[in-house]
Amino acid sequence: MQAIFETAGIVGTGAMGRGIAQMAAQAGSRVVLFDVQPGAAEAARSALHATWQKLVEKGKMDAAGLQACVDRLTVADSLSALAPCTLVVEAIVEKLDVKQRLFRELEAIVSTQTVLATNTSSLSVTAIGAGLSRPEQFAGYHFFNPVPLMKVVEVIAGLKTGPVVCKQLSDYARQFGHTPVSAQDTPGFIVNHAGRGYGTEALRVVGERVADFATIDRILKDQMGFKLGPFELMDLTALDVSHPVMESIYHQYFEEPRYRPSVITAQRLAGGVVGKKVGAGFYAYQEGVAQVPA
Ligand code: NAI
Repeated sequence: MQAIFETAGIVGTGAMGRGIAQMAAQAGSRVVLFDVQPGAAEAARSALHATWQKLVEKGKMDAAGLQACVDRLTVADSLSALAPCTLVVEAIVEKLDVKQRLFRELEAIVSTQTVLATNTSSLSVTAIGAGLSRPEQFAGYHFFNPVPLMKVVEVIAGLKTGPVVCKQLSDYARQFGHTPVSAQDTPGFIVNHAGRGYGTEALRVVGERVADFATIDRILKDQMGFKLGPFELMDLTALDVSHPVMESIYHQYFEEPRYRPSVITAQRLAGGVVGKKVGAGFYAYQEGVAQVPA
């Protein structure tokens, strides 16, 4: 299979960047990893290697496939090393000005044909691409965590995104085995808009002392068929990612009360109790297993 994008650059190699890099390498693209934090891209490369080794152990990948994926990965020590990329996907911090600056820098480095894409959860694709000289080459490409397992990808056209770019991104997602869905450029797009109440209402229920968070998680899973309860989901996403998304959607809808973020998550974020990745969120984690704090 010939990958639609021969060389994919991934900027930001945290949870999302790693997952997207994994899928891109498995689809046959060469992948260049870049992260502003020293050592982070190298750590992502090691983590991906371990992930592929596990797939081999489970019989889901053969040794040649593992070697091919490893050989396709390189780590860049500067943004300029992304010059040969035909696609660059950004998965950095959810801040409008930081993302805008990154894409302006990238535009000066890559070719005029290169597609630039943001994995933003909630920011306006049109606003992120506003300062670009080739906004038609820029789109939203919203994956979900964990990327290999969550098969939906929102492909978002900003006001100036070209239709060819959206088609290329959708076809590339299909090469990952994912299902692309076109979404309008509105705050939260489809999933983070339609699913907003799942977390915010559960936080209100806890705030009103109707029930504790573990009970709410259990009931929503047992009685309503959700795979993860809202608090398990917030722990998985991590509050340093999800609380800014709540704030962003609230502000973009002109302080619409329905979307008001919770003081509970604001406080926990301030205290660093952000979720599974730090071993402490609503649940405490011992070797990755959730425990209800006493
Ligand atoms: P993360 O915190 O795990 O990783 C972000 C990475 O970006 C870090 O390694 C950080 O060092 C790096 N970074 C920050 N600023 C940078 C810059 N200017 N240049 C290069 N690297 C930079 O975050 P995560 O969870 O991977 O999220 C990244 C993006 O994806 C955010 O926009 C988030 O809203 C979005 N997203 C997150 C989802 C999730 O469930 N975690 C789901 C879908 C989208």
